[in-house]
Amino acid sequence: MAITTHIFDTIMRPVDAAGMRRMRRRTVSRAFGRVLEVGAGSGLNASHYNFRLTDSLNVTDLIADKPVLRAALRRADAPHDRITVEDADLCDLPYEDASFDSIVCTLVLCSVGSLTRAIDEMWRVLRPYGIVCFIEHVHSSRPVVRPALESVTPAWRRVAGGCHLNRDTLPALRRHGFSVQIEQTAVDNIVNSGYATRL
Ligand SMILES: C[S@@+](CC[C@H](N)C(=O)[O-])C[C@H]1O[C@@H](n2cnc3c(N)ncnc32)[C@H](O)[C@@H]1O
Repeated sequence: MAITTHIFDTIMRPVDAAGMRRMRRRTVSRAFGRVLEVGAGSGLNASHYNFRLTDSLNVTDLIADKPVLRAALRRADAPHDRITVEDADLCDLPYEDASFDSIVCTLVLCSVGSLTRAIDEMWRVLRPYGIVCFIEHVHSSRPVVRPALESVTPAWRRVAGGCHLNRDTLPALRRHGFSVQIEQTAVDNIVNSGYATRL
């Protein structure tokens, strides 16, 4: 996990500088109330929270890199008495039903073991009308690009921490019953950010 985090960080820092930061700011600052961040990685979202809107924040990853995440939260001047950093598998979340008002999920659904389980779990731990603030890269809608992403994915998964380039993530959220609002797109509609409301 730590090695994957460092490789991802090396890739993401320049990408963040090139525009992803704006997407993160808009997406993450929407989180309010009792907030759960899943798959937090090295904490690139920490500085984008609006802590005036958050009552509590649970920052989690499958195996959370706690020193790195705590350092990111300190740099962001996060209110430490309202923050918990802990391990949590998005496919089997250790929280009661309807525990959260918002979930922050950025660039995670591409790499979870089961997309269906992850969506089931987000639905379960959100209260009705709670939101998932998301940034996700998804499968292309272009007939010429789709087969290319299909064929590259098996090799890519092995070098990129299980990341799938061919997931139809937003239709899967809609099928489950979320109302999906896309706010920004990039890379020919492959990268999408916005929020999904648990109806
Ligand atoms: C590409 S990184 C994204 C990190 C961070 N969210 C960001 O936007 O910079 C994907 C993260 O998802 C985490 N992850 C993968 N499967 C997970 C699971 N089942 N439960 C929780 N986190 C998971 C990985 O450990 C990794 O930190």
